[in-house]
Amino acid sequence: MEQIRTPRLLLRPSLFEDATRLSELSSDFDISRMTSRMPFPNPPDSVRQWMASLSGGEELAHVALLNNAPIGVCSHLFRQGPGVSEIGYWVGKPYWGRGFATEMLRALIRSGFEIHGLDKITIRHFIDNPASARVIAKCGFVATHRITGQSRARGTATELQNYKLSGAQARAQSWYAAAWYAAE
Ligand SMILES: CC(C)(COP(=O)(O)OP(=O)(O)OC[C@H]1O[C@@H](n2cnc3c(N)ncnc32)[C@H](O)[C@@H]1OP(=O)(O)O)[C@@H](O)C(=O)NCCC(=O)NCCS
Repeated sequence: MEQIRTPRLLLRPSLFEDATRLSELSSDFDISRMTSRMPFPNPPDSVRQWMASLSGGEELAHVALLNNAPIGVCSHLFRQGPGVSEIGYWVGKPYWGRGFATEMLRALIRSGFEIHGLDKITIRHFIDNPASARVIAKCGFVATHRITGQSRARGTATELQNYKLSGAQARAQSWYAAAWYAAE
């Protein structure tokens, strides 16, 4: 079971016992409207359905814990072919603005290249999500193209900005070596 320790967080695979708290944090339209797939609201049963879907192997999800309490989720999504992942992520509103998204994404990026041997990581955000744009910039991603995509919670199509990051580009970032304390 992969566990990653960052300066403040533990990233570990999801457990069914996380479902209630993850449901409370993510049943917030300001979160689900910025994601492609999350329903609004997101009740515990729907969180457990998502956890059960992870056994399919298309998504490698980590729950981020602060002092043993879940605060958010970050995932590698493997749907673009071998060696490539797309990162998806969210952080519960009580924890916004403290650098947690940046901290968990940097650790996930490093695990992608160093543990999973990825060649490239992609990420995207709806164009009305400047906080995510800032997090993505702080992780060193390079902007590529825009497409139109669905948000399940919004029920409408919205423009998405896409980015990519190679292993070489990630390793050149000043934060890379300290992105985690230990991966077990
Ligand atoms: C996007 C999200 C993950 C950010 O989480 P966070 O823990 O607050 O992020 P961080 O604290 O690491 O960084 C946020 C950065 O965005 C900046 N920011 C926040 N709101 C902003 C806004 N409206 N306009 C511009 N920048 C903004 C912050 O100042 C900070 O940058 P700084 O460190 O240079 O000051 C969180 O808001 C969230 O979960 N949103 C809903 C789901 C989502 O958007 N997921 C990503 C899908 S692509």
